[in-house]
Formats: sequence, C-alpha cells, structure tokens
Amino acid sequence: METKEHLTQYSSLKDRFLEELSLIKSTVELNTLRARYIGKNGAVTAALKTLAGLPTEVRGSVGKLINEDKTLITTALKEKEDILKKQEISKKIASDKIDITLPGYYKKAGGRHPVSIVMKEIIDVFVSMGFSIEEGPEVETDYYNFEALNIPKDHPARDMQDTFYISTNHISRAETSHRDADVLLRTHTSPVQIRAMQRTTPPLRFIAPGKVYRCDSDITHTPMFHQIEGLVVDTNISFANLKAVLEGFLQLVFDRNLPVRFRPSFFPFTEPSTEVDIGCFFCEQSGCRICKGTGWIEILGAGMVNPKVFQMVGYDTERYCGFAFGIGIERVTMLKYGIDDIRLFYEGDLRFLRQF
Ligand code: DAH
Repeated sequence: METKEHLTQYSSLKDRFLEELSLIKSTVELNTLRARYIGKNGAVTAALKTLAGLPTEVRGSVGKLINEDKTLITTALKEKEDILKKQEISKKIASDKIDITLPGYYKKAGGRHPVSIVMKEIIDVFVSMGFSIEEGPEVETDYYNFEALNIPKDHPARDMQDTFYISTNHISRAETSHRDADVLLRTHTSPVQIRAMQRTTPPLRFIAPGKVYRCDSDITHTPMFHQIEGLVVDTNISFANLKAVLEGFLQLVFDRNLPVRFRPSFFPFTEPSTEVDIGCFFCEQSGCRICKGTGWIEILGAGMVNPKVFQMVGYDTERYCGFAFGIGIERVTMLKYGIDDIRLFYEGDLRFLRQF
C-alpha cells in the first residue's frame, strides 16, 4: 500500500513537468525549467534525496520510478531544446537579412602622382629598348655635377642663383682634393653618367631617373623637379642611333605619330649637341600659346658624348663613342595632360591630384 502512495506522489511530478514543458517558448525558459527539475536543487534531485528516508521495501520501486522519470524528463528537455534552437536560428536568419540595396561604405584609396605615372611610362619605354637603370646621389660634388662634365668654372649653370650649394667654403685646390671641395644638390641627372662610366667599362646602355634641384620658381620651374638621363656607349655609335632611339621614344610616350625636329644646340658634355622638338599637337603646328606660335615644342637635350668627358673617366676616345640625352619629366607630364602651371604638381591639392 505504502508503495502505491509513494508511486502516485511521484508520478504527479512527471505530469506536472510535461504540462509545464508544453508551455515553454524559448531556450531561456527551457533552461529555467531544466534547473527546476533536474538541476542541483531541482524537484527530481530532491525526490531522489528523499529515497534514503523511505522504508526499505518501497525504496527500490520508488527509486526505479524516479530514475525512469528523470530519463524521460532529460530526453524531453533535449528534444524540446533542439526544436527551440532551430526555431530561434531561423528567426535570427530572417531578421538579419542584409539589404543589398543600401549604399556601401568605400575606402578612399591613394593614387599615383601624375609625375610618377609619366616617369614610369618613360622608364618602361626605355627598358623595352634594352636600357638598364642607374641611380646616383642627389647630394653631389662640384666635380661630378660640373667639372667632369666639362662645365667650366664660369658656366652660367654654376651660378649661385641656379645651384643649391650645401658647403660654400671654397677651399683652395692646393689644400684639398678638388673632388671634396664643393658639395651641392645636383642640378641635373648628368653626373650619373660619370659615376656609371667610372664604375664600368663599355658597352653601356642605361637611363638614370631621379630628382634634381635648381634655385628657380615660376609657372614653368620648381626648385625640385625630375629628369631622366640616358647614356649609350659602344664602339660604333652614331648620331643616327641617337635619332632612332629618341624618335622611337617620343612616338611611344606621346602615343602618336609626331613630327620630330633635331635642332643644333650646345651642351659642354656633348659634341655635337642638339635640342629635340616635337610638332605642337595642341594646334596641329599652326601656332598657339603653348608652342609660342612656332608650331614646335622643345622636349629634350641630347648629343654625342664629348671626348673630353670620356677622357675624364679614362675611356679610350679612339675606340669608344656614344650619345647622351636628358629629359625633364614635369615638362612631358604637363604636355601629356595639358597642365599649364608646374607648381600644381607640388601643392598637394587633392582636387588636382584626384584627376589622375
Ligand atoms: N643635363 C642637361 C640639363 O639639365 C640636359 C641634357 C642635355 C642631358 C643634353 C644630356 C644631354 O645628357 O646630352 O639641362
């Protein structure tokens, strides 16, 4: 009899649980329910604890019943939990749907400077013709910048107004090697010719891109600008080679069939020297503001290497000859993009720079 009483008392536990379970709507509620029945202080746990106080003859059957209920409750909780979790996940997916029509955020990316773009284009053209690339220091000595290039002491390029001198202490030649005397910022990339020739023996075929400095500032001059120097030295180099290379280069860089003109000129380090003009493509050579009415635009300086320069580096002038050229990058960039004030390149105005 007693057993039956106990059994009835405990079986209501299961019924109560099943009723409560049917009302559960979330995993949070389910966790509370779980704690209330099979948790450390739960009803089932408490019922198991009462077993010890029961008469021995009923303890076995009551214990069995409680344990069966515990298994049933645990299984029911697990099943319900699986169902609820699935429901919650689908609800979350539905509510998290991304509105792909909303405008996105975009990261602002930097771009290449127009001078760098054109510099790279020019380098690529010469590299495709088999030229290698040389570099030299921007802080130079009077020797490399002038003297070894056959630029005499009274040459206007040495004028204090053009050259940025770093040391102006004119030490007398008797006291020190003339090579160490005057330190300056190179006014052109031509000193790289001397450095490269001192280092190697012919044949030579390279370009030397880089920054140069002159104390000058107006709409066509900035104190710092870029040049590309070129030098070819071998045993059988003629003015025809110079013409072919430079004409080919100009067609490629300006991307059209341009008239090209070689005008006699003078540079101390070349003999003969030439300045190269291209037909003005702004006015089809009919004369405009850009070509100053002449139909021609001056684009670079060049010439056959002066034997005096070869002598300076100890090259055999009977055996070797060559040609050299120098191009101003800002000037080419201005012409390519129709920019009329060189200072725009170095003012850092994003409205200007974003256009490239
Ligand atoms: N160095 C000259 C300048 O800055 C440019 C130049 C002219 C370079 C003729 C050369 C050359 O190599 O042959 O004005």
